[in-house]
Amino acid sequence: MSKVIFSADRHHLTQTFIKQTLYPIQNQNYRPMKKIPILSIIIVFITSASFTLLQTKPWAVPDKAAKTVNAVKSDAASVAAGKILWGQHCASCHGKTGLGDGTKAAQLETTPPDFSKAVVQGQSDGALFFKTVEGRDDMPSFKKKIPDQEDIWNLVNYMRTLKK
Ligand code: HEC
Repeated sequence: MSKVIFSADRHHLTQTFIKQTLYPIQNQNYRPMKKIPILSIIIVFITSASFTLLQTKPWAVPDKAAKTVNAVKSDAASVAAGKILWGQHCASCHGKTGLGDGTKAAQLETTPPDFSKAVVQGQSDGALFFKTVEGRDDMPSFKKKIPDQEDIWNLVNYMRTLKK
């Protein structure tokens, strides 16, 4: 009789051991769902922090380039030419009106800045010219794709019309 109790006891112990160590998910004290909110808060924090860093990364323009005078007068013909180029080469990321809402924008690591605002409009024509030609990271260099400097100035003149 005592032998039966002992073996039943041992069976119970073994079951408990299996439940608590081999199958921790079945253990009532182990609640993995409890850890998810904390983990996601940490992930969201790290992601947004790195986005902020990327967005505020200053883009230095050499003094000489920033002071370069616009070689093309901003008349209707120049703005019209710039608008066509913008539609062909820039709107996919920057959006039709430069708000940074182009179809490709979501795939980029860096959000293109809002061209209607002073962050962009406060820069000199030379600086916008330089950045368009050189590019960096997600912003492509247009040195080869738009080799004619007059076209880049047309683009600069068009970018000025995006101001609000
Ligand atoms: C593949 C996406 C993409 C395309 C296409 C693109 N850009 Fe950009 N552009 C960006 C991104 C992203 C930034 C922000 C880059 C950064 O700050 O590192 C940017 C930044 C700029 C800036 C600098 C803005 C600032 O605040 O300093 C200018 C000027 C610019 N783009 C002009 C153009 C022009 C003009 C074209 C078309 C001829 C063009 N871009 C095409 C993605 C793009």
